[in-house]
Amino acid sequence: MKAVETFNLTKHYSRGKVKALNDFSLQVETGQIFSLLGPNGAGKTTFIKLLVGLAHPTAGHATVFGKSIKNYKMHQHIGYLSENHRFPEFLTAAQVLYYYGKMSGVSSSDLKDRIPKLLKQVNLTDWTNVKIQKYSKGMMQRLGLANALIPDPDILFLDEPTDGIDPVGRREIRDLLKALREQGKTVFLNSHLLSEVERVSDEVAILKNGKLLQKGRVEDFISVKEQYQVKVISENNKINEISEKLSIPVSYQNEFYNIAVQDDAHLNKFIDSVRRESITIQAIIPRKISLEDFFIDVIEDKNGEVK
Ligand SMILES: Nc1ncnc2c1ncn2[C@@H]1O[C@H](COP(=O)(O)OP(=O)(O)OP(=O)(O)O)[C@@H](O)[C@H]1O
Ligand SMILES: [Mg+2]
Repeated sequence: MKAVETFNLTKHYSRGKVKALNDFSLQVETGQIFSLLGPNGAGKTTFIKLLVGLAHPTAGHATVFGKSIKNYKMHQHIGYLSENHRFPEFLTAAQVLYYYGKMSGVSSSDLKDRIPKLLKQVNLTDWTNVKIQKYSKGMMQRLGLANALIPDPDILFLDEPTDGIDPVGRREIRDLLKALREQGKTVFLNSHLLSEVERVSDEVAILKNGKLLQKGRVEDFISVKEQYQVKVISENNKINEISEKLSIPVSYQNEFYNIAVQDDAHLNKFIDSVRRESITIQAIIPRKISLEDFFIDVIEDKNGEVK
């Protein structure tokens, strides 16, 4: 079963003047970390709000684990961290989790058991009984994450979860999200931090002006087909000669030759020629671009639209 499926989901605000989401159809597999990317105002938060029932679609519909988003029972499977969330500042972390947990319908005995574990998971144990007005931004985000996990959800919708968190904290959150995936949970992320997204996501979708531009596996987007980085030891310009002979475009950058071959046979011919010259090959690595480069190309429409 798909974790999320949307069918021409559309949301207009201000009597149709703002088209936040247009005919957005998307499928998210169960057990994945899925990230929705897009520039400011693309419609990412709107999408999550529709799925968690905080806004209603203008047209189209959606399901979460096969249940319509109109069915309030589907909320039992959902954990949600909103963008710029605010908890009452006079509460402690334990109290926030207790009251919000009660509102989500979790029993007192389950909460008693779960709250210390969740606070440990997000590294807030020492702050359990401290009022949250003393918390840093990163600590508030981690508390928000613990709060999203309180109902023991099958899917988590996290709107900018690493916003304001330092690099060590971000790594902790990445590890936590991966651990949740190991447990079979689905994680749906909105994020601007593309290096984070690249490290943690199985699939991504790119949204612009409420429209889907691309969707696919991160690995496929960042791998450059038939291009390799080659590192060799002392070769006296032989690589350039070989490349010319085999019609392989080549450039040199940061101690690596970037080569573009036609196929595996072409690559092997190159390797044979290099070895025939007794040049030592230290590494041959498939060339990758960063997700950020890919994202910018898509947003600037260099890769064209998929649909
Ligand atoms: N309640 C609302 N009333 C009117 N317009 C709204 C409302 N909420 C969002 N919008 C508009 O809808 C569009 C999409 O906004 P949304 O918050 O979903 O974008 P986003 O991709 O989450 O952006 P960001 O990266 O800045 O968080 C924007 O043009 C925004 O101004
Ligand atoms: Mg947003």
